[in-house]
Amino acid sequence: MPITHLNDSHRKDSDDKKKIISNEILKDLYRKDNEIDSSNLNQNSNLISQIKLQNVKSLKYSGENLENYDLKNSKTIRNERIFELIKTENTIRTVKIKDIIKESKIIKTIVFNINNQENQGFLKPRAGQFVMIWVPGVNEIPMSISGYDNNYWSVTVKSVGECTREIQNLKIGDFIGVRGPLGNNFQYPNDYKEKKIILIGGGIGIAPLRCLAFELHEKNIPFVLIAGATCSNDSIFTKDFKNLNPNLVEIVYCTDDGSYGSKGVASEVFKDYIQNFSKDEISRFLVYTCGPEKMMYHIFQICEKFKIDIQASLERIMRCGCGICGLCALDPLGLLVCKDGPVFSSNDLRNLEDFGKYKRDLTGKKIPVD
Ligand SMILES: Cc1cc2nc3c(=O)[nH]c(=O)nc-3n(C[C@H](O)[C@H](O)[C@H](O)COP(=O)(O)OP(=O)(O)OC[C@H]3O[C@@H](n4cnc5c(N)ncnc54)[C@H](O)[C@@H]3O)c2cc1C
Ligand code: FES
Repeated sequence: MPITHLNDSHRKDSDDKKKIISNEILKDLYRKDNEIDSSNLNQNSNLISQIKLQNVKSLKYSGENLENYDLKNSKTIRNERIFELIKTENTIRTVKIKDIIKESKIIKTIVFNINNQENQGFLKPRAGQFVMIWVPGVNEIPMSISGYDNNYWSVTVKSVGECTREIQNLKIGDFIGVRGPLGNNFQYPNDYKEKKIILIGGGIGIAPLRCLAFELHEKNIPFVLIAGATCSNDSIFTKDFKNLNPNLVEIVYCTDDGSYGSKGVASEVFKDYIQNFSKDEISRFLVYTCGPEKMMYHIFQICEKFKIDIQASLERIMRCGCGICGLCALDPLGLLVCKDGPVFSSNDLRNLEDFGKYKRDLTGKKIPVD
């Protein structure tokens, strides 16, 4: 047998084994999660100390001041407080996949149930925040929350490498580990109701903006969405956006090759769009953007020229996702994309020399952004 065949079949065997192990680990964790019965909390001191131990770990991560709590004596901590403590964002929880939606050839939305018993500890997310998705034996990677309600959250995953490929191979009923919600969210300034809100997304960057679009829609806040993609096959969420009230939402689609909507990249379409408004009207714009960094940098420059407030969601390679490893640091301010971001507003963007220019590879070395 040629050596390449040997390699291929060996790789397939080891991939299959990895998948089986990964799902067994997660199933086991899921089972354990569900063994915790909140009604026993008063009687079961063992359980309380178990939970307490988990919380010590979570608290350290979440930066709360441990000295405020008498962790040696569980009786002094009321049950409500214990549950509140469990609700920290840095606990990995096992969740079951409820649905998988194929958005394009290489993009899938994974919908998972956050509402099993233990997992009720998930904090409510806000648009712009992300989660770390853990595939045992493969990696733990950051993904924006693309949608949420009381029972389900979703992430929309573009296949670019090993872990995203593994996530895309998962089936309904499979398990993943989820840590979050992490990072900050898109902010609504006090005067946002007087603003003309514009969302500008490119490629997979439309994922957190989908979440923001639904938040704004629920609040009955009008907005414009400029959704860019390379070609019609890559234009995602078009069905979801069709369900939004057209009296509230104006959607402008664009593709690099003109195969869906206007021809051109989202930043160029935005530049053309604002030509229709007076200087006074433009000063009331508020822009939220996510997508390729070069695109966001271009949009930022346009916003600076016209004195438009902007919030941009940045991406950096992440390891810990919670402010420990420093891989996502932005020079010269040392802001961390995972803790201080991923959403940054005009004030920060102005002072970030890395923005639009440099990111770090897995070794921490600076390399140009794509
Ligand atoms: C806050 C945040 C939110 C994100 N949201 C989404 C999302 O909603 N949907 C989505 O598909 N992707 C999202 N990403 C990017 C995603 O995390 C990476 O594509 C993923 O980690 C790649 O993992 P991999 O193992 O498949 O690829 P690898 O095999 O590790 O690498 C493949 C390529 O992806 C690049 N890459 C690796 N990690 C990252 C990273 N963290 N950010 C950017 N590029 C990376 C590598 O440099 C390489 O070029 C987000 C990233 C961040 C930081
Ligand atoms: S990913 Fe480790 S500090 Fe941000």
